[in-house]
Amino acid sequence: MEQKEGSSRGRLLGAGLALAGLTLATATLVGCAERTVSYSAQVQPIIERRCLECHQPGAPGYEESGLEMTSYASLMQGTRFGPIIEPGEPMNSILNQLVEGRAHPSIAMPHGRDRIPDSEIALLRKWVEQGALDN
Ligand code: HEC
Repeated sequence: MEQKEGSSRGRLLGAGLALAGLTLATATLVGCAERTVSYSAQVQPIIERRCLECHQPGAPGYEESGLEMTSYASLMQGTRFGPIIEPGEPMNSILNQLVEGRAHPSIAMPHGRDRIPDSEIALLRKWVEQGALDN
């Protein structure tokens, strides 16, 4: 009798642990650093919010550098001097250097404004690291 009680308690505990495990697994998946960053779902919204007002035809960032960020293709094309993204190499990519403040402050991006949030900086870095995919 005692043994039976013990085992049913054990089963309950087991179920509880399984549930906790499931929650943990979901949380890990959502927060997982190795999850593939999506250009359309994650990168583009950051660009729209932080960069686009200056980096489209007629705006100062575009007029001065030639960098248009309205589409994946134009972003990858870069400035009139060439690409700003080296897929797989966030340390060498001008885009990451500028938003991370690794270049001279006078050319940090967004131009003349506060740095974008760390979470967005990290996301841009991860995206470039994973090959700057059009996904
Ligand atoms: C307030 C306007 C403004 C915003 C917002 C802005 N930029 Fe710029 N950006 C400029 C101007 C002006 C230039 C050209 C002068 C320069 O290079 O500093 C430029 C140039 C650049 C360049 C080319 C630098 C080079 O190699 O000459 C990159 C890369 C760039 N911006 C990235 C970004 C990114 C990424 C964002 C969003 C996080 C952003 N910019 C937001 C104004 C802006």
